[in-house]
Amino acid sequence: MWATNLRIIGVVLGTLALYTLIANKIPQVQSDVPRALTLGANVTPEQLVSAGDQLYHGAGGCTACHGLGTRAPNLLTDEKGQGPIGARCGKREAGKDCKAYLHESLASPRAYVVAGYEPIMPEMGRILSPQQLWALVAFLESNGGTVDVSASDIPSSTTSTTSTSSTPSAGISGGSTDPMAIIRGAGCTGCHKINGEGGAIGPELTHVGSRLSANLIRESILTPDAKIAKGFEKFKGIMPKTFGNQLTAAQLEALVQFLVSHK
Ligand code: HEC
Ligand code: HEC
Repeated sequence: MWATNLRIIGVVLGTLALYTLIANKIPQVQSDVPRALTLGANVTPEQLVSAGDQLYHGAGGCTACHGLGTRAPNLLTDEKGQGPIGARCGKREAGKDCKAYLHESLASPRAYVVAGYEPIMPEMGRILSPQQLWALVAFLESNGGTVDVSASDIPSSTTSTTSTSSTPSAGISGGSTDPMAIIRGAGCTGCHKINGEGGAIGPELTHVGSRLSANLIRESILTPDAKIAKGFEKFKGIMPKTFGNQLTAAQLEALVQFLVSHK
């Protein structure tokens, strides 16, 4: 029983890692991989931690910001004498225990912004599945704290009606090809201003079509670090590298055409 479960989990994680690799190599091919983490009803805390560990260091994109010391708080090591994240998470917000605080930090990072940092963290619920968020919470707790995430925290995947609908949310915003719906759903406006809406962490996109060709815009979205926008060298690595996995091919094209028409 135990051995079989472990074997199944091993196969699932192995396949996940393989497909993530492939999806990263061929970014324009629509892939539902980041959502494909399937954790059974009797998943153990150890399995969650290990899945969260892989996400943290891989497809989750966390290390683009966390771990450099200045851009975002240290999570796996001490932060300003308060210990690693598992040790300090229960003391951040009155009335929120560690588990609740960590889940909120991922799902709605603006709800509590750690003093001394900019609110640049993307809303991870738009990028990762509920299972993946909980795996990350377990992994973060395991760094200096006690893991208390259990299978009962994880919404069962049966809520998405029948079994064939395993990809109901294929693509951002349910696969919509309305460019502004994609831009809002993907969180681009968290960092970029376009037509008067959005933030100022990345370059304004209102006239991006006068600076960049369709090819360069596509490249900026799929491999943001390949070329860094002038004046934004300091912000290299901040734009998520996961859009190639999240956008459908049709969404990517709709987005590129929309942006290139913004002269
Ligand atoms: C674009 C940069 C960026 C990325 C990518 C990012 N974060 Fe963050 N994160 C931040 C910043 C900046 C803060 C501090 C400001 C705040 O609270 O929003 C933060 C705060 C946090 C906190 C709260 C820390 C504390 O000390 O209370 C947690 C937990 C966290 N991030 C986890 C993650 C995880 C897990 C990932 C990957 C799935 C991730 N972050 C990806 C920038 C980022
Ligand atoms: C967490 C912040 C963040 C998010 C979210 C984000 N970007 Fe960016 N983006 C940046 C930063 C910072 C740069 C400049 C550094 C670089 O070129 O990588 C940039 C650069 C770009 C460029 C190149 C602009 C130029 O003038 O050269 C384009 C195009 C772009 N982003 C489009 C998008 C789109 C479309 C989305 C949503 C699908 C998005 N970005 C989401 C931060 C972000």
